[in-house]
Amino acid sequence: MADLQGLKVAKDYHTDVPFANQNGFYLKGINSLDWGMKRHMANIFDPKSGNTVMFAFDHGYFMGSTAGLERLDLLLPKLAPHVNCFMGTRGAIRTCVPPEIAPSIALRVTSGSSMLQDDLSHEIVAVDIEDAVRMNADCMAVQTFVGADGQLSSLENLNQVINAGMRYSIPTMGVCAVGKDMARTDRFFKLATRIIAEMGCQVVKTYDCENFEEVVAACPVPIVVAGGKKLAEAEAMTLAYSVIQKGARGVDMGRNIFQSEHPVEMAIAINKIVHEGFTDKEAYELYLDSING
Ligand code: 5RP
Repeated sequence: MADLQGLKVAKDYHTDVPFANQNGFYLKGINSLDWGMKRHMANIFDPKSGNTVMFAFDHGYFMGSTAGLERLDLLLPKLAPHVNCFMGTRGAIRTCVPPEIAPSIALRVTSGSSMLQDDLSHEIVAVDIEDAVRMNADCMAVQTFVGADGQLSSLENLNQVINAGMRYSIPTMGVCAVGKDMARTDRFFKLATRIIAEMGCQVVKTYDCENFEEVVAACPVPIVVAGGKKLAEAEAMTLAYSVIQKGARGVDMGRNIFQSEHPVEMAIAINKIVHEGFTDKEAYELYLDSING
């Protein structure tokens, strides 16, 4: 184990130098994986832009009925044409997403906590790999609590899911959890995202932070960014624009879409930023035009 005393601060991120081991496939770190894994990644990340708009509606797994997600059966069919990926639980997807309209699927496979608890960091792997295969999941999402009380069990969950995913060529997305007491600093996200990637995940979901481009540079697989708490629409578009400019390969946005008064128009505007090079301002103008008729 490296001696932690006198540890040098990492600084050589070479954020202007593209990832070196990318020959043959358009997504960072996926080049050496097999055909099935690449196929799933290509279902999630548009091969033309290399990016993805994921829509996260898995909040019910610990929050129960959530504002904006009361009627998944009504909301999800409206959003399906406008996003690349649905991130949800098997219960929500099986009951509320008609298979013929589903985009790619990021299946949440860990659970075990509820918002009635103070410490949410103790989860289990709740979904068998066979059920992920039956649902044709394009990736499996695992909540990962670096630095929290439940770190060991969540890394155990993560490795269990990655090992199963490697057997069946289904990617794993490590979701970097931020507890109440965790500082959302670049120091924390560099630590957590890199640990998650080194476990063998094919996608890492994290948050925006200072020096985000360094977090991206030091992570050898694609990063997607969570939307986080509800912002004004223009601010959420600025968040999406900023992280794409800094190298994120997409967003995995929940509340900033489903708690908007105009979720479909919001998803369309985010798409323009993520896939078509719109600036946040251009996307917001489009959003205003579309909601004002
Ligand atoms: C929880 C998650 C959620 O899916 C995530 O928080 C996305 O939703 P939002 O954009 O509302 O934060 O992964 O860790």
